[in-house]
Amino acid sequence: MLVITTNLQLNTFLNSLHKKESLGLVPTMGALHKGHLSLVEKAIRENQSVMVSIFVNPTQFNNKEDLEKYPNTLEKDIALLSSLSNQITVFAPSVEEVYKNNIVTKKYDFQGLDRVMEGEFRDDHFNGVGTIVELLLNLIKPDNAYFGEKDFQQLQIIKKLTQIQDILVTIIGCPIVREPHGLAMSSRNERLSTKTRNEASFIYETLKTAKEKFGTKSASKVKDWVTKTFLENNTFELEYIEISDIDTLKPIKRKQKGKKYRAFIAVYTENVRLIDNIALN
Ligand code: PAJ
Repeated sequence: MLVITTNLQLNTFLNSLHKKESLGLVPTMGALHKGHLSLVEKAIRENQSVMVSIFVNPTQFNNKEDLEKYPNTLEKDIALLSSLSNQITVFAPSVEEVYKNNIVTKKYDFQGLDRVMEGEFRDDHFNGVGTIVELLLNLIKPDNAYFGEKDFQQLQIIKKLTQIQDILVTIIGCPIVREPHGLAMSSRNERLSTKTRNEASFIYETLKTAKEKFGTKSASKVKDWVTKTFLENNTFELEYIEISDIDTLKPIKRKQKGKKYRAFIAVYTENVRLIDNIALN
């Protein structure tokens, strides 16, 4: 498998591609698991060439310790990707190569999408995500770029980013991949004890019941029920439950015909923060 680490090598690779063939990009921060791989598999099905970027982006971490603790498993990631196909190209640049000694976070107007949920609790996080994704899209110029619905707010913000910055690319959302008992896959799951990981089906089960209740009850009733359910559970602590319009991400006031809604949740357990979401209609 071809592993590229510099912009110069990247240009040589991009010049070698046939103009008519489509290039699919899967941006990641490494520590790959089946969730990431599902994006790569979709990209392989839909493009002649596939690039996976592996870059732990410093501008999207609010917390220095979080950044320092982020797992670096490049060898293992490359082996996992090789097991899918040997046609994938990996772009794994250094921080210096990407930011050229000038680590600056751009400021975007995401029209409110970044001020709720993950944005409310993680200051400037989405400006950091925007900064690196804009950089990668402009550098690699893929036809299609793949992002997971696990980070649904990020997916919507990246779609907005490409609109406001006029970047010609199709952003493709991919369904959440879950562990057999329902916990959304995440590299953070590795930090949970076996006991808690086994109990974590509670999160998805609660979301599924919330979806059922949303059929007949108001959003505020459903949110109250979720809050109460978490208060009765000793293992998982609810940070937020929100029910929002999928386009604006604004919390729902009253259900409106033709609108699509999702429930979003952030949960703490054993000092690990987990997020999940579910389509409600
Ligand atoms: P990372 O957390 O490595 O995730 C890379 C991509 O994998 C994201 O689009 C994420 O939504 C998707 N993903 C992770 N777990 C998933 C799951 N269980 N099911 C489906 N998709 C899943 O997200 C980032 O990196 C960064 O913010 C990035 C976009 C690369 C910018 O630095």
